[in-house]
Amino acid sequence: MSRGDRPRPVPGSVREWSLWPLNTLTDGTAREFRAGDGNWPFRGFVVRWQGEVYAYANTCPHAGHPLNLDPARFFAPGGEQLICRSHGALFAPESGLCVQGPCAGASLQALPCRVVGGDIRVTVPAGHAD
Ligand code: FES
Repeated sequence: MSRGDRPRPVPGSVREWSLWPLNTLTDGTAREFRAGDGNWPFRGFVVRWQGEVYAYANTCPHAGHPLNLDPARFFAPGGEQLICRSHGALFAPESGLCVQGPCAGASLQALPCRVVGGDIRVTVPAGHAD
């Protein structure tokens, strides 16, 4: 396992987590992360899309399920939208807006995300992994 495989809290920060080097995520792909230990870590995922990086809670606004079935499969066939594997809701990767499906018009919970020193950092909501 490389140093970048396990998310870790940023020293001195309450809720910001350092994930992996940006260059491990190619454009048009996404990857899940878990922040915190125990049975109920915060679950999120990061999307690299058209040169930008976005992060969302891994919770579908329809029924609250995680979107994915495996760690790196978030995109629908065609690679233009994110998909929830439970009931097929489709989301815009750059906004998290549901554009088709049972929760059309609702959005994924966006998380503050930035790149520092080449690493992706995400801030998780208060009350999770802090
Ligand atoms: S839980 Fe995601 S579409 Fe139903």
